[in-house]
Amino acid sequence: MATEALFPTLVYSAALRKQAAVALNAQLLKECLQLRHDDAAGRRWSASNYPGGYTSYNSAHRLQRISPTFETLQRRLRPHVLAFAGQLELDLSGRELEMTDCWVNIMPRQVVHGLHLHPLATISGTYYVKTPKGCAGIKFEDPRLDRFMAAPPRRADSRRENRPWVTLPAEAGWLVLFESWLRHEVAPNPVAAERVSVSFNYNWF
Ligand code: NI
Repeated sequence: MATEALFPTLVYSAALRKQAAVALNAQLLKECLQLRHDDAAGRRWSASNYPGGYTSYNSAHRLQRISPTFETLQRRLRPHVLAFAGQLELDLSGRELEMTDCWVNIMPRQVVHGLHLHPLATISGTYYVKTPKGCAGIKFEDPRLDRFMAAPPRRADSRRENRPWVTLPAEAGWLVLFESWLRHEVAPNPVAAERVSVSFNYNWF
């Protein structure tokens, strides 16, 4: 008799080195707030697509090519992305896994980031710049959920890997990586202070 866990869904999280992260985050935060101030097109797009919040997803989404600070972030993320690709046992021979997009998300109180996935990307993730106490984490959904028909709910005391949703806390200096098809959302920010993160996509061309 044997029961195997097949087709696992891997989610990777790690912290950047503490001292380096503190300095990097101070500069990232400054640039995120400055970008919101300068990016009128992004504020307009956010008004209809990210109500109450600001994202540069549609206006300034290659920040790693524009800002040396975001380029530094890219350099620090790289070993983690390669480690995650290794855990996934992806065969990347002949092509490079590269950061294609990198953008800012600012969530004031009550702002929500609805359920979504990242089309046309291989690995996606978020790096946390500012996470006020009590702010929401990132909530992942079981990718098989849309196929469950007569599936009973899971027991309240079920193991984490058997639950239909799992939330990872958001903590400044930490990053989370996942395969881009994995749907996720961020619940409304319940606290007065703004939650600031940088999201990114890697693609395998
Ligand atoms: Ni996302």
